[in-house]
Amino acid sequence: MEIKQLKVGKFILPSNVLMAPLAGYTCYPFRILCQEMGAGLCFTEMVSANALKYKDKATSRLLFTTDDEHRKAVQLLGGDPAVMQKIACSEELSQFGLIDINMGCPVPNVLKSGEGSALLKDLKRAGNIIRLCKKSGKAVSVKCRVGVESSHRIAAEFAKMCEDAGADMISIHGRTRSMMYTGTPLYDQIAEAKAVVDIPVIANGGIFSVAEADKMMQETGADGVMIGRYGLEHPYIFSELTGKPVTKSRYEILIQQLTLTEAYYDESFTLEYIRKLASYLMRKQPGTKQYKQKLYQCGSIEELKGLLYEAFEVVPGKGDL
Ligand SMILES: Cc1cc2nc3c(=O)[nH]c(=O)nc-3n(C[C@H](O)[C@H](O)[C@H](O)COP(=O)(O)O)c2cc1C
Repeated sequence: MEIKQLKVGKFILPSNVLMAPLAGYTCYPFRILCQEMGAGLCFTEMVSANALKYKDKATSRLLFTTDDEHRKAVQLLGGDPAVMQKIACSEELSQFGLIDINMGCPVPNVLKSGEGSALLKDLKRAGNIIRLCKKSGKAVSVKCRVGVESSHRIAAEFAKMCEDAGADMISIHGRTRSMMYTGTPLYDQIAEAKAVVDIPVIANGGIFSVAEADKMMQETGADGVMIGRYGLEHPYIFSELTGKPVTKSRYEILIQQLTLTEAYYDESFTLEYIRKLASYLMRKQPGTKQYKQKLYQCGSIEELKGLLYEAFEVVPGKGDL
């Protein structure tokens, strides 16, 4: 795919390869990693505007960042335009230059509250949310799906609505809400959306190789791609696509992630996050199956460090990219 800079509001993204927001994974350390690997932008996981309104501590932790993170982007989940405006303009979000609005989450409880992909069926409210979030003066983007079910495919209409309401970028997961996370993305839907707007359109869904990123770009004509699960399994994809040189082995990545997480989060968060990330990084790595099972038996960070060393470094070849 052609790598280029992208202008999103006041931001100039160094590449058009983005890391998707992933609940439970795209915490500050992981975003730093993706940035180093060449991702043009990384988002926090979805952060509930309502939970922030009620000052929920665990939710505020999701906003943690430092000056080492360039181009800070937060993803907000919410269905009430007034609450979204209040949070978008709040002091808590002052560090973030870009707000991404989640209009694609398929989880039943989220849907019931009129948030996430429920907004795909309420364009008026979705537009109001975008307009009111823009009052923050920050760049605003939207992440959505192509529709709710196979009889409801509205990517072009939805993208136009986002642009008219003031969105600076739209990322489209090429699946409907009922497809959840499987099935071939509906490339034609993303292509139709791209054809009707001038703001950057980012195509997401099912990219698990360089070839699939190329295919996504060819089929949709999008301005860039967004990588989700494959970014966890193979963060090198960002460097492979952008050409940014990277020399870190999987072991070095995990140690960097552990060190950063330990420095800024508590032990239980660190243990949980590193176990989950290591498990992804071990996928398809020969000889690591036994260690994957043991990961969840590690009760302390020291034990976890020992296991990672054994799994990736002791056996020759394990540290290979
Ligand atoms: C574990 C997990 C967590 C996710 N969390 C979020 C989220 O917080 N916000 C969001 O907009 N999408 C979320 N998604 C959807 C992804 O951002 C992405 O759209 C989806 O996984 C499709 O991309 P992929 O096929 O490259 O993984 C999540 C997906 C997964 C698998």
